[in-house]
Amino acid sequence: MNNFSNKLSELLLVWWDKYGRHDLPWQKNPVPYRVWVSEIMLQQTQVATVEGYFDRFMRSFPDVAALAKAEQDDVLHHWSGLGYYSRARNLHKAARKIVAEHAGILPESLEELVALPGIGPSTAGAILSLSMHKRQPILDGNVKRVMARVFCVEGWPGSTANMKYLWELVEQCTPVSRVDHYTQAIMDLGATLCTRSRPRCTDCPLQSNCQAYAKNLVTQIPASKPKKVKPRRSTVMLMVVNHDGEILLKKRPSAGIWGGLWSFPELESSNEVTSWCQQQFAHIPEQSQVWPVIAHSFSHFDLDMTPVEVYLSKTTTKVMDGDQWLWYNTRSPAGVGLAAPVAKLLNVMAEKALDARSGE
Ligand code: ADE
Ligand code: SF4
Repeated sequence: MNNFSNKLSELLLVWWDKYGRHDLPWQKNPVPYRVWVSEIMLQQTQVATVEGYFDRFMRSFPDVAALAKAEQDDVLHHWSGLGYYSRARNLHKAARKIVAEHAGILPESLEELVALPGIGPSTAGAILSLSMHKRQPILDGNVKRVMARVFCVEGWPGSTANMKYLWELVEQCTPVSRVDHYTQAIMDLGATLCTRSRPRCTDCPLQSNCQAYAKNLVTQIPASKPKKVKPRRSTVMLMVVNHDGEILLKKRPSAGIWGGLWSFPELESSNEVTSWCQQQFAHIPEQSQVWPVIAHSFSHFDLDMTPVEVYLSKTTTKVMDGDQWLWYNTRSPAGVGLAAPVAKLLNVMAEKALDARSGE
């Protein structure tokens, strides 16, 4: 095993020097803070998408202290469109904890890192190896797939037994020298050659050491997760427009989907629109229009959203200001976090308003 793991890391490093990725934004100046933020962004998001967010985030929050000082709304605003917003909330919480408990410096031990919100053992391993040159393995999705194939681990890799075995394997395979390059190399191999569908085994430096390849089991490994049926929910999203063309938004509670982001007020059914407006504005809307259903998938359920556009008449005074409510002006938008479907709907509304004005 030892010779074998030496061989794997050597082959990977030779390959990486020639074919690996060396120019990703977070590879420039790979200090712990930058590596940490990039790893959190990359947890559930593709490199190509993260590339559009990382530098902007760094410009606004250049270090732990700046992130800790920021308002949550501002952090979420920089995350708008990346999805999985608990990552941003945890990043922000962790920055505050690092300032309070570690003098603003990312801790250098696995135990202390995994005690921070949003950092699991693999992310901690990536931070330690990529930015501090510590010999610490990682086991993210790409690495799991490569390892499962090279060592022919059958069944779903995420099962408790397989995870235990895979951690043992990566622990043994991680080299002492050039550990930062090794970590990047194995991720790059998984992302570019040893992909889930149609891996390019003919170009792979590990081919002659790969058990799945030898046994012609590459397409069977890794086995997929046993499926659960997702529940389906539905909601009505009210897009209330006042006489100034502003649209009413409500802040979501911090727990649950889109926590801390701004969204539309919601109702269970479009039959409730009139009574809701009567209650909130002492006024029945001039006109309302039901839009086609938009389906959105979350990790634990699917959501059918029915937008209902509602126009309030001239006489309506603006109500509902305060912490939880916002009249959103699409011509000078407030810098708040918006869930992607909400941002899309607001764009459609803004375009509609423009068309209406140019038609006047
Ligand atoms: N995915 C997770 N970490 C990564 C990194 N450092 N480079 C490219 N993809 C990644
Ligand atoms: Fe992956 Fe194929 Fe390389 Fe094995 S030979 S590690 S399956 S790309």
